[in-house]
Amino acid sequence: MKLKSKLQEFQQHKRGLLATNFYNYETLNGVLTAASNLGEPVILQLTKSSIDYMGLNTAVALGRAALAEHGVEGWIHLDHGGSVDLAQACLDAGFDSVMIDGSELPFEENVKITSEVVKRAHKYGANVEAELGYVAKLGQSHEHAGFTTADEAKAFVEATGVDALAISIGTAHGFYKEEPKLQFDRLSAIAEVTEATLVLHGSSGVPESQLREAISRGIVKVNLATEIKNIFMKTLQQQLRDNEEIDLRKVFPFATKAVTELVEYKLNIMKNKK
Ligand code: 13P
Ligand code: ZN
Ligand code: NA
Repeated sequence: MKLKSKLQEFQQHKRGLLATNFYNYETLNGVLTAASNLGEPVILQLTKSSIDYMGLNTAVALGRAALAEHGVEGWIHLDHGGSVDLAQACLDAGFDSVMIDGSELPFEENVKITSEVVKRAHKYGANVEAELGYVAKLGQSHEHAGFTTADEAKAFVEATGVDALAISIGTAHGFYKEEPKLQFDRLSAIAEVTEATLVLHGSSGVPESQLREAISRGIVKVNLATEIKNIFMKTLQQQLRDNEEIDLRKVFPFATKAVTELVEYKLNIMKNKK
């Protein structure tokens, strides 16, 4: 099934679709083992840094092969694409979906760059995500946030024809110093005026109850990155401290398993059942 159809189906059922970033074979395997165990679909995301790290074609081939091997329904998505050229390269490499992140641009310029990517991506039958308002990037002060308004969201989706919209309602990338307080009234107001798929960035560190509330009020795509990196590396560091094994195939599985347990927990939240 096309990602767009799946997102629309999940929107109707008020369910979340987890979008996890992957960095290497092990994190990918950890995510897909969880998805396979629970029979849930998943979006596999790549940022430009991960693409540069693995190589564009290697990353896509790895993602696709692993989905098939695990028997998981999934899609490959460009996360926080910074230019039309990168989005184009990903479309040519076979991505199912691309994000063009014009969130730091003035409204009109964001409309322009997003419209250009929509025009190109729809020729490939690919899904497009944009960001309106601003979700603080990793390491940035959370005061950087610029909250999304319902009026702007409506105008932006109408002007661009974008399929999915990342909104700023109180989350930030990375962990939080204090528990975040999502702005649910703002989310409901946005959900009321647009049919675009609403996307929650910065989900690491958001408590389960708030993730559930956000899904109930219209968030569909839930982006998770930092918690995956964190549990993988913390577990790996512990293993390396505790033993001198040099067969990496005996060491990495501990870290992979920790990712699987984390993702199983998050996937159960996505179902949005009490
Ligand atoms: P976290 O790193 O807070 O999970 O955010 C992930 C994200 O938004 C990826 O686009
Ligand atoms: Zn993000
Ligand atoms: Na976060």
